[in-house]
Amino acid sequence: MLPFFSPKISNDTSLINKVLKSKFVSEGKITEKFEKELKKFLNIKYCATVNSGTSAIHLALIASNVKRGDEVIVPAQTFIASALPIIYIGAKPVFADIDSSTGNISSKGIKKLITKKTKALIVVHWGGYPCDLDEIKKTIRGKNIKIIEDAAHCFGGKYKNKNIGSISDFTCFSFQATKHLTSGDGGLICCKKKSDEKRIKKLRWFGFDRNLKKDNKGARIDRVSVLGYKYQLNNYSAALGLSNLKNIKSLLNHHVKIGNYYSKKLKNIPFLKILNFKKNRLHTYWFYQLLADDRSKFIKILNEIDFPYSIVDKRIDNYQIFKKYKKKLPSLEQFEKKKISLPVNYKISKKHIDKLVGHIKKKIRQNV
Ligand SMILES: Cc1ncc(COP(=O)(O)O)c(C=O)c1O
Repeated sequence: MLPFFSPKISNDTSLINKVLKSKFVSEGKITEKFEKELKKFLNIKYCATVNSGTSAIHLALIASNVKRGDEVIVPAQTFIASALPIIYIGAKPVFADIDSSTGNISSKGIKKLITKKTKALIVVHWGGYPCDLDEIKKTIRGKNIKIIEDAAHCFGGKYKNKNIGSISDFTCFSFQATKHLTSGDGGLICCKKKSDEKRIKKLRWFGFDRNLKKDNKGARIDRVSVLGYKYQLNNYSAALGLSNLKNIKSLLNHHVKIGNYYSKKLKNIPFLKILNFKKNRLHTYWFYQLLADDRSKFIKILNEIDFPYSIVDKRIDNYQIFKKYKKKLPSLEQFEKKKISLPVNYKISKKHIDKLVGHIKKKIRQNV
């Protein structure tokens, strides 16, 4: 059976071997090189790698000055990692409804969720489709609220010709095993200010400023005034990330090609609903999200030809740890009933989609 996710790993392992041979496997020059190349690829000035996308969101919240008791708006249609770091801090997640025609946070619903305690807004580019960033920006204009983009699904995406990563206060990427770009595990925080990059680099390594010199006995002189974490990305993960980054353009092209092909081929199937993906942004299709009026019937058809699918992720406010923050989210309720996603990984070709569509049409003819 075809896989739903399949990581694309470079055959060129020379840099990884070099790191292993050097025995310098912790954070170092290769991590720095990875950051430099990521800055070039994303056309950004400031960023810091970390050991996961979850750590990236955690540090972005701290860098946004979110404190215990503050509120952070976040969609409930996402993976648990978008909101867990809010709880780490002792802040309160305020779950937002989505636009059911895209699966992304609804920019219209945000305004009424803002209170004096709101310090940040996490927006998730669900499945790789960039959110309505201009409209979202407008809703918080003049308020001291930071925008954090959770772009775990959207590496290489664009919004109105601007790279995702270059737009908001903070953008967090994940380099976890199944993502477009993987370093095994890993993550990236992109930011707009040099001071934020500096602060995040301290936070990711126990609170130490690594650039500060040591005293003449080799001891650190940094007095460590911030509570730091052990979130840095090591050299061998960075080596894997760098090797995979070399092939990222062709992989992204594949995802875009397959995503667009699904839309073209499935748009006239009466019981399926294609989402409303606008042309003014580059959707990176980490998976292909769509809606099925009769999901059980669709799943039966998929199973007949062993075509993979997924219904992840279920709304996260159902998890016990978030339950006290749960409220009615009407558009998400509708989306939940019908959502289903199809694979876009590099093993999926147009031929697989043609076979699927042929099978669906046969079933329609047979009136099943
Ligand atoms: C939407 C979203 N945000 C954040 C993350 C967390 O990334 P990581 O697994 O690198 O911590 C994921 C992971 O899949 C995700 O899907």
